[in-house]
Amino acid sequence: MSSALKSLRALSDPTRLRMVALLERDELSVNELQEVTRLGQSRISTHLGLLADCALVQSRREGKRTFYKLNLQATGDTGEFIQLAIRGAKELPEHGGDQINLKRVLARRKEQAQVFFNQVAGRFDRVYGPGRSWQAFGHLLLRILPPLVVADLGAGEGLLSELLARRCNKVIAVENSEKIVAFGAAKARKNGLKNLEFRQGDLQNPPIEASSVDLVILSQALHHAEIPADAIAAAHKILKPRGQILILDLLKHNFDKARELYGDRWLGFAESDLHHWLEKAGYKKIEVSIVAREEQPPHFQTILAGAEKN
Ligand SMILES: C[S@@+](CC[C@H](N)C(=O)[O-])C[C@H]1O[C@@H](n2cnc3c(N)ncnc32)[C@H](O)[C@@H]1O
Repeated sequence: MSSALKSLRALSDPTRLRMVALLERDELSVNELQEVTRLGQSRISTHLGLLADCALVQSRREGKRTFYKLNLQATGDTGEFIQLAIRGAKELPEHGGDQINLKRVLARRKEQAQVFFNQVAGRFDRVYGPGRSWQAFGHLLLRILPPLVVADLGAGEGLLSELLARRCNKVIAVENSEKIVAFGAAKARKNGLKNLEFRQGDLQNPPIEASSVDLVILSQALHHAEIPADAIAAAHKILKPRGQILILDLLKHNFDKARELYGDRWLGFAESDLHHWLEKAGYKKIEVSIVAREEQPPHFQTILAGAEKN
């Protein structure tokens, strides 16, 4: 049978013409077509199959559902048949009712997409969102970072250093634990991060040349220093002029077990402590604020301090 004859035959049925009219505006699933037309599911599928066979209708799979729409890009005979069918379908007695039902189904589909967000409005930041994580935000924020030379003091195994190395010119991770240095360096090598260098040393006297880095980071490391003010002054020494220091630490707390559990030397710091030590070391543009509070007891709070070397 010629393709023209096949298309004419497919369009000779009034039910299939109804579908042509419905699939003109938007793509619809079988369930949605069923809701609009009140026809049985298998009947609808058979009709759609015949229309798709002649390329009058196209389909797209999404998960378990298939969506159908009229092939409005079709040219030649098929394109002409489709336009003729759309005009003819408007003369069918069911057309008016179908269009009203279609509007209702499409409006509900739009509402459904908004239902979740309306439900979580006001607590959206606290509920689970697929793919949304601080790690992902971290990667995004890194893209904004200029190509700096960074010293990560008390770097641990390099969680932050590795992230930074993906963007920065060079990262020097300073650690006093020999084992952690060996582990971190091996991990950096394995991950192909040639610009991440682990150095064993003390954060109060980092093995880094004076005036050589753009940024010093002390992430949850300052509370391990014997004399935190000395660590802040040492960071000032290795910074280039206009270089920045960023400190993430715990706000002063009373959870004494932190000494035993995490090897902490200081139970966090007051905002005024950090401000005072930064000022004393000669930093300018000092900003100290509390940026996070844990939901679980003992409700540790995180303090962020930043400042610039003159
Ligand atoms: C709580 S961890 C923080 C690790 C990393 N900065 C982070 O935010 O994931 C503290 C790290 O500082 C290191 N550390 C403690 N005292 C130090 C010191 N005096 N000099 C250098 N590193 C030190 C410890 O070995 C540990 O790896």
